[in-house]
Amino acid sequence: MLDKNVIQIIKSRKSIYPSQFSGKILENSIISELIDISNYAPSHKMTQPWVYRVFTSKTKDKLLNHILNINYENFRKHQVDKMKVKFQLTSHIICICMRRDKYKSVPEWEEVAATSMAVQNLWIAMVNSKVGGYWSTPKYSKDLSSFLKLNEGERCLGLFYLGYVENEISKNLLRKDISKDTKWQ
Ligand SMILES: Cc1cc2nc3c(=O)[nH]c(=O)nc-3n(C[C@H](O)[C@H](O)[C@H](O)COP(=O)(O)O)c2cc1C
Repeated sequence: MLDKNVIQIIKSRKSIYPSQFSGKILENSIISELIDISNYAPSHKMTQPWVYRVFTSKTKDKLLNHILNINYENFRKHQVDKMKVKFQLTSHIICICMRRDKYKSVPEWEEVAATSMAVQNLWIAMVNSKVGGYWSTPKYSKDLSSFLKLNEGERCLGLFYLGYVENEISKNLLRKDISKDTKWQ
């Protein structure tokens, strides 16, 4: 009844971290394609709350410097070094943002949920490709508004790191036994 290919693709989606990227730069057109796929996510009243700020290989250092500046007091030297390596290996970063519509016509959680579905779309679209990535949700996401030139009602929900994956990464994170958390009534 269900399409096995679709099921396999969904099950194959995985987080791939910057330490697993080769450092090669992806074409901007691939990122645009992923963003376009994300746009097919559902949203209540079609509010389409997802908003993105994309940093490329040419502009990602601006974002890195900003993050290091806002966290200057908190970051230790080894954390700064780690962040620098992380950014070097990363090709693009999409800042995942969400916009409340003017009339607040649906509850905020629905807008967060819809934005998450958009992220899931682009994440799934990377399966079986040389593109990998993961959604990072550091505390400082909320402090990026003015740097990202977000408007009133918009906020950043984290950073999606994207990079080139040279060799297939096998990963098999155990999923819980969902039957225990499903009640048929
Ligand atoms: C909303 C959300 C926020 C996440 N934030 C982080 C994060 O801040 N740091 C991190 O290492 N992984 C983060 N992840 C990735 C999860 O750790 C990862 O999805 C989980 O371990 C399952 O692995 P998989 O994506 O390979 O299936 C986040 C995932 C989601 C959906």
